[in-house]
Amino acid sequence: MMKGKHIVLGITGGIAAYKAASLLRLFVKNGAEVQVVMTPSAREFITPVTLSALSGKPVISEFFTANTGSWNSHVDIGLWADAMVIAPATACTIGKMANGIADNMLVTTYLSAKAPVFIAPAMDLDMMAHPSTVANIEKLKSYGNHIIEPASGELASHLVGKGRMEEPERIYEVIERYFTTEQSLAGKRIMVTAGPTYEKIDPVRFIGNYSSGKMGYAIADECARRGAEVVLVSGPVSVSPSMPVQVVKVESGRQMLAACEEWFDKCDAAVMCAAVADYYVDNVSDVKIKREHSEIPSINLKKNPDIAATLGSRKSAKQLLVGFALETDNEMENAREKLRRKNLDFIVLNSLRDANSGFATDNNTITIIGSNGDCVKYGNKPKTEVAKDIVDYLSELL
Ligand code: CTP
Repeated sequence: MMKGKHIVLGITGGIAAYKAASLLRLFVKNGAEVQVVMTPSAREFITPVTLSALSGKPVISEFFTANTGSWNSHVDIGLWADAMVIAPATACTIGKMANGIADNMLVTTYLSAKAPVFIAPAMDLDMMAHPSTVANIEKLKSYGNHIIEPASGELASHLVGKGRMEEPERIYEVIERYFTTEQSLAGKRIMVTAGPTYEKIDPVRFIGNYSSGKMGYAIADECARRGAEVVLVSGPVSVSPSMPVQVVKVESGRQMLAACEEWFDKCDAAVMCAAVADYYVDNVSDVKIKREHSEIPSINLKKNPDIAATLGSRKSAKQLLVGFALETDNEMENAREKLRRKNLDFIVLNSLRDANSGFATDNNTITIIGSNGDCVKYGNKPKTEVAKDIVDYLSELL
């Protein structure tokens, strides 16, 4: 899969630069052509001679080749690339990339690249946790770049924490997977709902639930990885997508319905993963409800719209609608009833009775029940793997 691929390997000035030689070796061994672009400070950590010997090409780090008057075209290199990988990526280079500060060959090449960009940060734990680094990484994600999260472990400073560049084998795997993942959803637009909804009681309080959004975000990422254009309608969560997806942020169930109604007709499929509150508060107080009250205050609840059922009643023959059922008892019966009532094409059942499954956990155990009578049970897996099973099933139907 890597054979003949053009990889631009960007190396920046961090201790982990020595690991870039192993990564380069992996690319070359598997048949890729690699052009190394180094920042000037990377040369302090690893010699260009090592890298040009391994890649079989001169390393580029300056705009101009000394004394010859010829210059290196970042545009040509950027367009030549099938993928650009920056490993290690220091806080400085990440900051420059996020903000378009094109003062070296690596950042200019990045700005010219049309290919997918993979960034493997490496820095000390405090630099990694600094709000500016966090914000810059978020910006890069929003540009559609792929962040290969650093691992936790002992750092060059001897401190222990998050910031160690991911191992070359792992970085290689991510890029190979990118090239091998069948782009089975290319040309499709998929909407995913995720997270809880918050139903306001007063300016400081709400009714909510424990949904973390992890399952929906994993599904959105997986659809995007397979080439779909993804619209992720999300309630308030602290997770963020790792693939380029369009996030539409909402708070209440009624706002979620409005966003879904706006997008659904333009989509080939919708996966309804959000834990929408069943009720909203009809008598929201404009001011904070005080503890001292002449009588115990009461909140009047009204039924939230059933978003999945609303979309189910208007979906076209070409569209697919997928629901979830989180049950505590009578699981199969309840799920089948929801499948019918909401006019879904299939429903993903997870039971709170299964250990290590459901809300706010990293794992899940699911059964897919199809409107065609299918019933497929899967084992307990991380939600990222569960997402693959669900998207496999969806791709088949699409
Ligand atoms: N759902 C929705 N809008 C709602 C409630 C649920 O779109 N107001 C969707 C969920 O995203 C999920 C499916 O419907 O895909 C089932 O959600 P669930 O909460 O299990 O079903 P309810 O219909 O709310 O039934 P109950 O709470 O009584 O189990």
